[in-house]
Amino acid sequence: MRVLSIMGSPRIGGNTDLLLDEALRGAQSEGAEVEKIIVDKLKISPCKEYNACLRDGNCVIRDDMDDIYPKLLDADVVIVASPMFFYGLTSQVKALIDRCQALWARRYVLKQGPPDSGRKGAFIAVGATRGKQLFDGSILTVKYFFQAIGVEYVDELLVWGVDRKGDIKKHSTTLVDAFEMGRRLAHR
Ligand SMILES: Cc1cc2nc3c(=O)[nH]c(=O)nc-3n(C[C@H](O)[C@H](O)[C@H](O)COP(=O)(O)O)c2cc1C
Repeated sequence: MRVLSIMGSPRIGGNTDLLLDEALRGAQSEGAEVEKIIVDKLKISPCKEYNACLRDGNCVIRDDMDDIYPKLLDADVVIVASPMFFYGLTSQVKALIDRCQALWARRYVLKQGPPDSGRKGAFIAVGATRGKQLFDGSILTVKYFFQAIGVEYVDELLVWGVDRKGDIKKHSTTLVDAFEMGRRLAHR
């Protein structure tokens, strides 16, 4: 059982990162092999709409996405974790997702995608404010991303009202929720 996680905050040790670590600890407690991709540390160009991927399913841009495509296709579980920036995912994560247009093209244009095989996906998100719709747009983005890579959106952990670095530690139940979510995801 391989769990691949995408940590979308630029703030290492921040709220998203701490929650994700708990989820990964939960997955490890079920024996899963886990990996955390810190997107901010990578070089990932935004999609440039060269559209070459529509012909053969491969992106012509050479950067750190080269290593991420096979990992996304291999993982049994994919977790996307991001703070809300202007009611959306961070631009770091959004660039990674947009570059998965190549995987979308394989599935939906070239019909090369493997059949859905029960791979699971989950979304962890935090935001400072308390608006009811805070996460709505990002949930749609993550669901559509998962669809493009053949992963089913099965779980989410959305946390309102955390702003400063480490604020999440004041939400002890949320950290437990993250651990439990990781455990559930890795449970066969
Ligand atoms: C550029 C920027 C935009 C933000 N936009 C929002 C927003 O639209 N809604 C919100 O509730 N919080 C917003 N925030 C606050 C962060 O979501 C919040 O501080 C969060 O806890 C940061 O998580 P992290 O520690 O994982 O980076 C924004 C913060 C930054 C830096």
